[in-house]
Amino acid sequence: MMLYLDHAATTPVRPEVRAAMLPLLTDRFGNPSSHHTVGERAAAVLADARARVAAVLGMRPGDIVFTSGGTEANNLAIKGIAIAAQLRRAAPVHVVTTPIEHESVLASCDHLARVHGAEITRVPVDATGRVDPDAVAAALREDTVLVTIGYANNEIGTVQDAAALAGVTSAARVPLHLDAVQAAGWLPLAGTGADALSIAGHKIGAPQGTGVLAVRGRIPLEPLLHGGGQERDRRSGTENVAGAVGFATALELAEREREDAAGRTGALRDAFIAAVLSAVPLAQLTGHPVLRLPGTASFTFRGVSGEAVLLELERRGIVSSSGSACAAGSDEPSHVLLALGIAPADTQTAVRFTFGHGAVPAVPADPARPAVPADPARPADPAAPAAPAGPAVPAAIDPAALAAAVAASVAAVRSGP
Ligand SMILES: Cc1ncc(COP(=O)(O)O)c(C=O)c1O
Repeated sequence: MMLYLDHAATTPVRPEVRAAMLPLLTDRFGNPSSHHTVGERAAAVLADARARVAAVLGMRPGDIVFTSGGTEANNLAIKGIAIAAQLRRAAPVHVVTTPIEHESVLASCDHLARVHGAEITRVPVDATGRVDPDAVAAALREDTVLVTIGYANNEIGTVQDAAALAGVTSAARVPLHLDAVQAAGWLPLAGTGADALSIAGHKIGAPQGTGVLAVRGRIPLEPLLHGGGQERDRRSGTENVAGAVGFATALELAEREREDAAGRTGALRDAFIAAVLSAVPLAQLTGHPVLRLPGTASFTFRGVSGEAVLLELERRGIVSSSGSACAAGSDEPSHVLLALGIAPADTQTAVRFTFGHGAVPAVPADPARPAVPADPARPADPAAPAAPAGPAVPAAIDPAALAAAVAASVAAVRSGP
């Protein structure tokens, strides 16, 4: 069995979500655009899912666009709002963001610059990953048509001051888009003051390939997908009815549990961070010490390859990540850690552990995939080493010793006081 500490990459589908979706994948199928009872029933189910999502987000049902996930939601928000504004103004536009955004945000902004001549301002963040709302205010210009910022960062978990950002943007009458993909389930989504929010279902217990862009109806949006005019002409294509119901169910559950889960998981995270920092003197916490997602503990381990630590952890039955799932496996230093001022060599030593709402799930190892081979030089560690604090890692660093210390910290936190 493996302990899964990579919930920021994806989460298991919740049983309640599976149960809600199953009838729609079997006898209650139907195309919501069909003009017969089977189709009309599907349309009613979709409308109900839309209303439930809108209720959680404090928006109107008509503001909800179901998408294939966070990447599409971000692309639609950024390109859709900026291109619509550009068409209205008949002139290139200006967009404000930060350098630590998810690739889907950065690449959408790059596309706007490359193809549509937009100017992009990336307002720097401080060493903890926080952007100063006053610096965002100072970046706004007469031709600024969008501010797009991650509500919480996927690599380091730093949370932005959404209310202050919304104050700045609403005073300037510029739409604010928050990439809330990592925030969902941990931070309040209603009442942020944002004009547009991206959420991905697979981060909150709905299936991969589900998501939402919630965008206030008054904001013009140029569609990216053209065709049958579904989703009020903002996203053509036959709707994923079962996915929408799964998303709505997961979002409601996530919201219902949010405060409890944040308190419980935040305490677990703090204990884990303290255990790692005490067991591994060279460990550095990345991101903000307090204003961080309850489920995220991210470190650099100076002098040790993050990939080597991940392998050693996997040998000990713990799966985690070197950063974002998209950047994992890439040799490029993380743009997020570089923007915090971390040295390029140290960015390669990053490891991110992310907890979910429930207990740390143990998942069966895949029998089709050979386990990471045990290192013959060392006896295999038991899944839960006994020493609560773990061995301190000496200055001459061995990834295996480091992984053993981290594994001991996980074990200590799991067994609890
Ligand atoms: C902050 C953030 N935005 C966007 C995305 C993209 O979401 P998806 O994987 O659903 O395309 C992710 C995925 O990890 C993310 O963490």
